[in-house]
Amino acid sequence: MRTTKYILIPGLALFVLFAFTYTPQSEKWVVPANFKTMKNPVAKSGESLEIGEELYMQHCKSCHGKEGLGDGPKAADQKGDLGDFSDAKFQAQTDGELFYKTKEGRDDMPGFAKKIPDNEDLWSVVNFIRTLKQ
Ligand code: HEC
Repeated sequence: MRTTKYILIPGLALFVLFAFTYTPQSEKWVVPANFKTMKNPVAKSGESLEIGEELYMQHCKSCHGKEGLGDGPKAADQKGDLGDFSDAKFQAQTDGELFYKTKEGRDDMPGFAKKIPDNEDLWSVVNFIRTLKQ
């Protein structure tokens, strides 16, 4: 049974390699209903956009890139889909969804509840992300 050996062993090796390197491609990130429908209490004023932009450049650019394209210098090291903030599908999310994802994080996406403790600042980041729409 030489042929079986030649198929079985590389097959098994491939399987083991696959099993250890495979990470399930981003399961849907479920946002609790109360966040999804949450109203953004911060108006998109010039002041809010300025705060949002400053915080974005300080905390988000390294992974998500200057324009939110998912091409920051640290992007390649991240597991999971960084998304494209200029994309219509991304922008179709509610403010509450973006707020929740930024605040809580998931896996390689850090939660910013501690680094940006003021909720109004977080909403300003959401406001700024809206300006990245193409
Ligand atoms: C260390 C790298 C890193 C930094 C810094 C980072 N993110 Fe992320 N972000 C990720 C990764 C990785 C994902 C994908 C997470 C997943 O799907 O499990 C993500 C996903 C997201 C998503 C969801 C994308 C989608 O398609 O719905 C939003 C919104 C987001 N990040 C906002 C931000 C904001 C705002 C900041 C700054 C305050 C920030 N991120 C900083 C790595 C980062």
